[in-house]
Amino acid sequence: MISYAICRDLPQSFSNCVTAVDLSQSAIDITLARQQHDDYVKVLKEHVENVIQVSADEDHPDCCFVEDTCVVVKDTAVVNQLGHVSRQKEIGPNAEALKQVPTLKTIVYMKDMDEEATLDGGDCMLVGDHLYVGLSARTNEQGAKVLEKAFSSSCKVVTITALKDSPTLHLKCLVTQVNEDTLVACSNPAGKELIQEIKQKSGIDYSVIFVPDSVPANILALGSDFVVIQKNFPESERILVEELTEKRGIQLKALDMSELIKADGALTCCSVLIP
Ligand code: GLY
Repeated sequence: MISYAICRDLPQSFSNCVTAVDLSQSAIDITLARQQHDDYVKVLKEHVENVIQVSADEDHPDCCFVEDTCVVVKDTAVVNQLGHVSRQKEIGPNAEALKQVPTLKTIVYMKDMDEEATLDGGDCMLVGDHLYVGLSARTNEQGAKVLEKAFSSSCKVVTITALKDSPTLHLKCLVTQVNEDTLVACSNPAGKELIQEIKQKSGIDYSVIFVPDSVPANILALGSDFVVIQKNFPESERILVEELTEKRGIQLKALDMSELIKADGALTCCSVLIP
């Protein structure tokens, strides 16, 4: 079971979030967004031993997307310098939350290690002892280097360039991990290119479950036998049920996250998991 999860409440200002979605065509329903986020937190509380829930910050509409604010590997956490300037002051209360986790021995601030470094946690995927860091509009090479230094004794940082100049927001918009051997990825050309680079650079032949839509490529594994997936993507859901539940015996819970998707948010974005 996962020992700790950090999440953060959704502010009333959420509809002012940073997003590539045209909200003039499809406005965020804030009441529904809150309900969807509450449902997510409820699932966290059912499957994680300790959930630390940080209060919302009205000055930071994207603050519920805590994943971007820090990266944790074993007993070390790096508090990031986020890639979008409007989000950089989200980190304070989340860093305080990290201090409540007894297994964390070292907490470092990216900005103190390199002022030019930027990185969003959504670009980082830890699979076994490999930490894949996707360069993107939010995450630069200096950011990846800070992680390499901070985690030098605990994992191998592998920098991924496939999405560097693409419109994809984060690495984990196209690929996430089920466990140490298995990934879920979007079957579009960008997803396939990403998987090819991950396999080639790591030398690991992961088993990959491809789904046709990008949103459900972001799954949230809460332990070895329980995975949260996105509702409303029937073909991707059918594949995930077949591959995860029927073939691997993993229990699935599908959540409707329609309003968070409008904010360019996915399942992993709303928590930081600490085994
Ligand atoms: N709305 C999430 C982000 O752009 O970081």
